[in-house]
Amino acid sequence: MNKRPLGKSGRLVHPVGLGCMGLSWAYHDKAVEEAEGIRLIRLAIELGVDHFDTSDAYGPHTNEELVGRAIKGLREKVVLATKAGLVVKGDSASSGYTRNGRPEYIRAACEGSLNRLGIDVIDLYYLHRIDPETPVEETWGAMAELVAKGKVRWLGISEAKVPELDRVSRIHPVTAVQSELSLWTRDYLGDVVPWCKANGASFVAFSPLGRGFLTGTIKADTELSAEDFRSTLPRFSADAVAANQRIVDAVRAVAQRRRVTPAQIALAWVLAQGEHVLAIPGTRTKKYLEQNVAAADIALTPEELAELDAIPAPVGGRY
Ligand SMILES: NC(=O)c1ccc[n+]([C@@H]2O[C@H](COP(=O)([O-])OP(=O)(O)OC[C@H]3O[C@@H](n4cnc5c(N)ncnc54)[C@H](OP(=O)(O)O)[C@@H]3O)[C@@H](O)[C@H]2O)c1
Repeated sequence: MNKRPLGKSGRLVHPVGLGCMGLSWAYHDKAVEEAEGIRLIRLAIELGVDHFDTSDAYGPHTNEELVGRAIKGLREKVVLATKAGLVVKGDSASSGYTRNGRPEYIRAACEGSLNRLGIDVIDLYYLHRIDPETPVEETWGAMAELVAKGKVRWLGISEAKVPELDRVSRIHPVTAVQSELSLWTRDYLGDVVPWCKANGASFVAFSPLGRGFLTGTIKADTELSAEDFRSTLPRFSADAVAANQRIVDAVRAVAQRRRVTPAQIALAWVLAQGEHVLAIPGTRTKKYLEQNVAAADIALTPEELAELDAIPAPVGGRY
């Protein structure tokens, strides 16, 4: 496994980071026990993972607190990424989100994240979503000031399109773009992924396992609980899940030949999209974590890549 550069930051990171969102919220009925979450994050560090992704929106807030406690004493070993600008409406993400990119909001959000993480400087600070009510230059300008003040090292942006990337990069370099990329979400392959390569930014692939779907663990008869965020997504409706099993079948076919798991093939495909691409799969499970980290060592052949590229588009939208 070769480490990969994090944009032009000068830092190299393991190609497989750990997305921490699911430890606090998203695909389970409740958050992990704190001790369990801390154990998993520390195990990831032992396995060589050195890039951890969170957000003030996850929980909200509790995921940053968990990550902060887990990395206590290990701070120098890891790149810590967090985000601002996606605001949970009530006290739980189930009540929905709004966006806020106003400079004063971003400044306050950064202080909150530093406190919850228990650190002096955030390595990678993302704008989680662009606020349509605030010119992105104003938001990004405020984030650049945080870099100048030493509160943040590098800037990233999530779900931005090329024109927005051009606008912000005129103000301050983009170290990473974090957007969804997986075998069933290839929307950014034609434009944003090449933009990142041309501009020296990393493309950080979120939900690289298709929120778990590509691993083959969700079948047509799997019942997602009301607390499981996926139950709100068109791609996880019963009909879509049934129709999309052919995607999993195709991934499984390659996995069986390589004697690895479908999750590992899904990650190897993401990492094959370029040396500037990083993946941040999420898991609560030791076994899955070990598999995901090991996927960085799987080099797919051109024939396998062609076979995976030919997988049909999914039924059902992302959101
Ligand atoms: N920027 C954004 O807007 C945004 C949006 C979504 C996510 N993210 C980031 O991306 C990270 C990862 O995305 P994600 O959690 O949505 O989706 P994901 O990584 O595609 O999938 C996570 C799901 O896959 C399961 N899983 C993980 N490894 C597995 C394996 N080897 N075999 C079988 N199942 C496996 C997990 O199960 P268990 O939990 O049971 O282990 C979990 O249900 C998040 O943690 C977050 O940091 C960012």
